[in-house]
Amino acid sequence: MNIAERASIRAAAPRDIDAIVGIVNEAIASRGALDECPKTREDGKLWFSTHDERYVMLVAVDAEGHVVGFGSLNRHLPEHDACSGVATLWCFLASGAQRRGLGTLLVSELERHARNHAFHKIVARTFPANRGSRRLLRNFGYRVVGVHKRDAVIDGTYTDIMVLEKLLSPGHYKLGNPGTFE
Ligand SMILES: CC(C)(COP(=O)(O)OP(=O)(O)OC[C@H]1O[C@@H](n2cnc3c(N)ncnc32)[C@H](O)[C@@H]1OP(=O)(O)O)[C@@H](O)C(=O)NCCC(=O)NCCS
Repeated sequence: MNIAERASIRAAAPRDIDAIVGIVNEAIASRGALDECPKTREDGKLWFSTHDERYVMLVAVDAEGHVVGFGSLNRHLPEHDACSGVATLWCFLASGAQRRGLGTLLVSELERHARNHAFHKIVARTFPANRGSRRLLRNFGYRVVGVHKRDAVIDGTYTDIMVLEKLLSPGHYKLGNPGTFE
């Protein structure tokens, strides 16, 4: 049985902050996240304060109970209320837990959650050089929207950011009737 078959996904809890921050910092160090500076415990606390049952934070837990992955649905263009049906996606695996199906498990669960919580689209952003992220998202049917040129500065160098998206609903989201599509 592989690690993904023995792993479970659950809602993140405040006791997971250190593990989550550690996993995100590994991604930052390997240039897998769109940040340059390491995150702190305070950043982790802020994520909990800006997420809730709808904008969910999930963790992947291995058979021994260790948190080895983190994924979330985040606010998309929070300054615009008309965009509240769209979420952005984060997915990070601890280095020792990558390429074993856990990212696939996390994204599956995030999409299931999004469909059940009145999101009709998910947007993801990644560095064009991030082959793992692009492969994972491509497997789920995300299409490349485009590439923002010089959207980040990493190690003193302008870096492009690729934007991908996936429509979750086959048609128009039926307003006022959460969770269903017409
Ligand atoms: C990218 C990431 C989330 C993928 O999760 P994962 O658990 O490693 O991926 P999975 O095992 O579910 O594999 C999903 C697909 O991605 C591919 N993949 C994963 N890592 C890869 C890599 N480094 N290079 C090329 N392909 C990769 C797998 O081969 C698989 O494709 P396939 O089924 O067509 O063969 C994970 O590797 C990670 O956290 N990386 C560092 C942080 C990061 O880049 N996060 C994404 C930010 S947008």
